[in-house]
Amino acid sequence: MDIKKVAVIGAGIMGHGISQVIATAGLEVKLYDISEEMLEKAKYKIENSLERGIKKGKIDEKAKKDILERISFTPNLSEAVKNADLIIEAVYENLDLKKDIFKKLDAICLNETVFASNTSQYSITDIASVVSNPSRVIGMHWFNPPVAMNLIEIVRGIETSEKTVSRIKEFSLKVGKESVVCKDSQGFISTRILVAMRLECYRILEEGIATKEDIDKTLRLAFGHPMGQFELSDLSGLDIEVPICESLVKVFGDRFRPPQNLLQRVSAGKFGRKTGEGWYDYDEK
Ligand SMILES: NC(=O)c1ccc[n+]([C@@H]2O[C@H](COP(=O)([O-])OP(=O)(O)OC[C@H]3O[C@@H](n4cnc5c(N)ncnc54)[C@H](O)[C@@H]3O)[C@@H](O)[C@H]2O)c1
Repeated sequence: MDIKKVAVIGAGIMGHGISQVIATAGLEVKLYDISEEMLEKAKYKIENSLERGIKKGKIDEKAKKDILERISFTPNLSEAVKNADLIIEAVYENLDLKKDIFKKLDAICLNETVFASNTSQYSITDIASVVSNPSRVIGMHWFNPPVAMNLIEIVRGIETSEKTVSRIKEFSLKVGKESVVCKDSQGFISTRILVAMRLECYRILEEGIATKEDIDKTLRLAFGHPMGQFELSDLSGLDIEVPICESLVKVFGDRFRPPQNLLQRVSAGKFGRKTGEGWYDYDEK
């Protein structure tokens, strides 16, 4: 069954970008958040991003209008998920919160609806344990910013059905993304690789071996990465890194333990671009 109607839960960094990609691919998307302020910010950010697309000659005014018309912003969960073929959850990286949302969805959604989580590392099997039909639950891990990044990491929980995997593979292609599939394992493929590299950058800084600017420059110029890990951490948010590290420590041990320089910034509310300060300072929040 073709996926035509999509609901996205959580209008933050990922949720708004994911919604923009889906609407750009010509599908209807309803974006839900408990915070009306986040919904307003999401709309503003999508409009800005489309405006940049016009300036670069990638889309015209009509396309911008059509894309925006395909996205509804709502603080009402039942209204958002009504008749959805696919629901993509992108709320804070908190396992209890995610499970709570999936439990609510289970009670109000059609049995055919696929439930996808954009979690960066939690067990899909664990999240699926709260719903009556876990075969429809899957990991759909997008990358930041969703508009620019071409990969979706599909995570198969123990009970995820083949049908659910193929529907999400097909949907990924439809919205213009490549996909990889992996088994449900803490940190999947990408988060394990990314966190290992990022923590090594933090440790090099903490040991006083180099400045963050030079560590970032090394990643960009020696390895061809588009951004350094400090820049990327500021973009994705330092606050979401700590729980990710802590969960990885539980499974893989000390190699994923978050260093002091990360923990202190998070305690001080320096979460990166979204708070105006992280590893670097930013004028705009
Ligand atoms: N930021 C990244 O680079 C990145 C990349 C890949 C995956 N992820 C994952 O995507 C998810 C979202 O991350 P983010 O960076 O977009 O977070 P964010 O902090 O930018 O946004 C989270 C949103 O969830 C909303 N929310 C909280 N509780 C809610 C509820 N009960 N119902 C509806 N909305 C609720 C908040 O209001 C907020 O708008 C996380 O699981 C994260 O691990 C993040």
